[in-house]
Amino acid sequence: MGAQWGDEGKGKVVDYLAARVDVVVRYQGGANAGHTVVVGEREYRLHLIPSGILRGKEAVIGNGVVVDPAALLREMEELAEAGCDLSRLHVSDAAHVIFPYHLLLDEVEENWRGDRRLGTTRRGIGPAYQDKFSRTGIRMGDLLHPEYLRERLFARVSHVNAVLRGVYGGQEFDPEEMFRLYCEYGKRLQPYLTDTAAYLTGALREGRKVLFEGAQGSLLDIDHGTYPFVTSSSPTAGGACIGTGVAPTLIDRIYGVVKAYATRVGDGPFPTEERGGRGNLLREKGREYGTTTGRPRRCGWLDLVAVRYSCQVNAFDGIMLTKLDTLTGFPRLPVAVAYRWKGELFREFPRSLKVLAECEPVYRELPGWEEDVSRARSWEELPREARDYVQLIEEETGVPVCLISVGPEREQTILLREV
Ligand code: GDP
Ligand code: IMO
Ligand code: MG
Repeated sequence: MGAQWGDEGKGKVVDYLAARVDVVVRYQGGANAGHTVVVGEREYRLHLIPSGILRGKEAVIGNGVVVDPAALLREMEELAEAGCDLSRLHVSDAAHVIFPYHLLLDEVEENWRGDRRLGTTRRGIGPAYQDKFSRTGIRMGDLLHPEYLRERLFARVSHVNAVLRGVYGGQEFDPEEMFRLYCEYGKRLQPYLTDTAAYLTGALREGRKVLFEGAQGSLLDIDHGTYPFVTSSSPTAGGACIGTGVAPTLIDRIYGVVKAYATRVGDGPFPTEERGGRGNLLREKGREYGTTTGRPRRCGWLDLVAVRYSCQVNAFDGIMLTKLDTLTGFPRLPVAVAYRWKGELFREFPRSLKVLAECEPVYRELPGWEEDVSRARSWEELPREARDYVQLIEEETGVPVCLISVGPEREQTILLREV
């Protein structure tokens, strides 16, 4: 799972680890995620389907995910064209469905917020989870029961239309047309729908290895993130249980993916953000543009106050450090180890968003390196300055770094400890 604000390189790391497991499962979020995996000449951008599909592993979309069937079918087609075996895809019948009104509500609610916008991906995520929790949602399995679907969909659309008419004064939806379309989606997806909680628990009981692929990151968690500038699901470790129906006692290792610097896409406080030239340099060198929306990502220095907090919430057994290669060529590398607020020094991540927004990072500056680390394949091949950088992360978090990624490709990986 992601230990920062998303886009840490989870796709790359999950793809690497997927070689060692039998099943890969997504447990939260939806097509707001964009996980990039590079295999040889090809770059895949996965939004809903777990990255393990590229290794021919069983791929599960858990009950905690919100599924846009149109986006899912598009992704399935692209993967089938690339030669992936989609008979290994399993979709929870309890996962909630994204409808066109969720996409529109995401849009109009963001516009309504004006300056206070969250900067969502506009994939309908917030509105779909709102429906789930207000108990007006529709689940994937419901698509297979036309009578029941019709009743729930018509009730929901009549309410949505009233809101659109009364508040936003815009487009309204025809429930009949939507009903027909979603019945069709149900027919096409029926072969994949199943009780994935039973499937996963069964697989674990048989001794098969299951890898949970987080989307977004700890600091975007609805409870533990920088609320309200968060997503509407639980990317943190506990979310893996809720979002799959696998009990906590069956999960035995938790790994956090940490990017060697920090990025954030969307609004909200970001203490180590570099607005000037060095931020732009990080963006260009790291190619920091959103996988889902193409938006330029805000860039800044590694924030170990935030990462330490993430380690607390998730009790990581290890850190997978990505994009170390992007830092090559910076003469000095600032790393935040504490915050200063109203003259006081803090090592803890503040609970209050208002305080966080006013915090100044306290940096430790490390010397950079000039060597091209993207060709390094072992700890010894890394320059001393890069090793010191990694060691500072371990010292400040108390968590061992198990893997270092030095490029987007599979081979550009240094495994430091058995995982
Ligand atoms: P995710 O959402 O956490 O899966 O991350 P994204 O795919 O959105 O963004 C990570 C980007 O960095 C992708 O373009 C990856 O191909 C790329 N990437 C991953 N690991 C590395 C690395 O170690 N070095 C470099 N240079 N790029 C990487
Ligand atoms: P992956 O899985 C980075 C951000 C959005 C916005 C906030 C809420 O690729 O790491 P939402 O559409 O979820 O309601 O938007 O969350 N966000 C992400 N940022 N990576 C992601 O996914 C994200 N998914 C959502 O930019 O700030
Ligand atoms: Mg991403």
